[in-house]
Amino acid sequence: MNRTLGVCYYPEHWQETQWASDAARMVAAGLTWVRIGEFAWQRIEPAPGRFDWDWLDRAVAVLGDAGLKVVMGTPTATPPRWLVDQMPDMIAVDAQGRPRKFGSRRHYDFSYLPYRDACRRIARLMGERYGRNPHVAAWQIDNEYDCHDTCLSYSDAARAGFQDWLAQKYQSTDALNRAWGNVFWSMDYDSFDQIDLPNLTVTEPNPSHVLDFRRYSSDQVVAFNRVQVDVLRDLTDTPLIHNYMGRTLTFDHYAVGADLDIASWDSYPIGFLSDRIEGTEAEKQAFLRQGHPDNQAFHHDLYRAVGKGRLWVMEQQPGPVNWAPYNPAPLPGMVRLWSWEAFAHGAEAVCYFRWRQAPFAQEQMHAGLLRPDDSEAPGLAEARQVADELAQLPDVSAGTASVALVFDYESAWAWDAQPQGADFEMFRLAFAAYRGLRKLGLSIDILPPDCADLSAYKLVLAPGLLTLSDNLRDALARFTGVALIGPRTDVKTADLTIPNPMGPNLPGTDVTVTLTESIPPSDAIVLEGGGTFRHWFEGLEGTAAVHHRTADGRPAIMGGDHLRYLAGWPADETFVDILRTTCAEVGVATQDMPGGLRLRETPEATFAFNYGADPVDWQGQTIPAAGVAWVKR
Ligand code: GAL
Repeated sequence: MNRTLGVCYYPEHWQETQWASDAARMVAAGLTWVRIGEFAWQRIEPAPGRFDWDWLDRAVAVLGDAGLKVVMGTPTATPPRWLVDQMPDMIAVDAQGRPRKFGSRRHYDFSYLPYRDACRRIARLMGERYGRNPHVAAWQIDNEYDCHDTCLSYSDAARAGFQDWLAQKYQSTDALNRAWGNVFWSMDYDSFDQIDLPNLTVTEPNPSHVLDFRRYSSDQVVAFNRVQVDVLRDLTDTPLIHNYMGRTLTFDHYAVGADLDIASWDSYPIGFLSDRIEGTEAEKQAFLRQGHPDNQAFHHDLYRAVGKGRLWVMEQQPGPVNWAPYNPAPLPGMVRLWSWEAFAHGAEAVCYFRWRQAPFAQEQMHAGLLRPDDSEAPGLAEARQVADELAQLPDVSAGTASVALVFDYESAWAWDAQPQGADFEMFRLAFAAYRGLRKLGLSIDILPPDCADLSAYKLVLAPGLLTLSDNLRDALARFTGVALIGPRTDVKTADLTIPNPMGPNLPGTDVTVTLTESIPPSDAIVLEGGGTFRHWFEGLEGTAAVHHRTADGRPAIMGGDHLRYLAGWPADETFVDILRTTCAEVGVATQDMPGGLRLRETPEATFAFNYGADPVDWQGQTIPAAGVAWVKR
């Protein structure tokens, strides 16, 4: 497989006289792809039904003639003002009932069907015009679903859509009342049109109601995306892609990904460390100019699963961004490191965001590969270096890891609906498990919750799953390695109620969670032999063997040879200790990683990435700060 680089470009931001030299410079830097178009609706259709395609035709021709392959974006994340005026009810409404305003982007409501029709129309027109254009070699649909918290809308359209969705799911309000337990607090309904959205209630709404609203909202994203997929499939044979945003859990990415050919994501490591990845202050300081050493890897592995093996990075941070609370510049070398890390995790392409820094509007403080005055920014030399190295290096493919982590979006919604502890959150739990594995030098595959085959793996982790799917339960019944299930896995029904008999229901393993406590940061459960559980602890009963205990003798890990339940959320070092022991048992070799060093094994080579600010020794070589090294296997 040929690994390639690209860049995001906005011809409409620049004089047409610059396009040809921009294209030539992109090619000279070793770039293959150029993504355009995704915010250009107003320039394509300046007034209803009045189209101006000529500039875009010329831009595609100039870029293509220079030898670049175009990724064409559909512009549906930025409906123009005239369209909002035409259909004011397309505007999304926040949880406080306030309409969101025009003046930035992503202001549309996923439930508002006339807007879907407008998107179908513009996607069809673009597909008809460029679907068979030889320079257009891939499509991006919309831009970053849910970015800026835009998946959930509490609009009239959402309420009507939700009522229909519930009527189809439950068929009768009796069934819905039973499933949700509406007898509690006299919340029964006798017609579907009485059911409101679960916002602005006096105290918490029924969590089953919230979970169904979250499922409904996710389904709207899938349906919205599918409208454009269906149109474009007939008009192009090139791959259809969406660019997902990091740490975004509000819709089921696997479900959107099922309709697409490639999953791409937008990787802003330093912005993410500052605004969305938890860590201690010391960690945030240590990785201030590098990003969290496990965050990019986690998302590469997740989106490789969402893309059914096909992964891109559609936007790669090239320098300081503009949108995090603080926006430090990357250490020299990090742009190269992030790019190589993506390839080592199976990315087929890495595109930098953006070509030239814009001198105007919201993102004028966001670096590009060029400065606003057209001179080179530091990221460009690193991109060029990666291009040169790609030309020299043998192929890199993702391969299959020996360790897997099951990750599920519905569970994230369930635990949002009923966290039971202020710091319980699905991403945090899954990321804690992932970090523990990475600190042992391991490569990881992330699996969807309905995966049916675990036979490639020796160790599988399944923390925080609302329920075990039938597929996963059957795969676990056949599993010959060790699966660590829990905490908080399979202890609820799909309706978010407590099952009887109580869970989990692990095949052939008698373990039941009979008590649950959440633990504030000031406290912890101490384990026998050292280590702690934090945030969460579950009391276990049953006849299965106890593999590990708390200091006061309660089960901490309980189960059989293959399926074991983990009763709490291990502190970081404790997670590493538990995983090290379990890996030794199943024959997975581990190495304790110093500081910011992380490894990634591919069938062809082992890669080492130094996220630390100091050099580290690895396999007889010294890897500088922000350095990358590899040894062939
Ligand atoms: C992404 C987005 C881009 C740009 C970029 C800035 O979230 O897709 O359009 O805004 O962030 O970092």
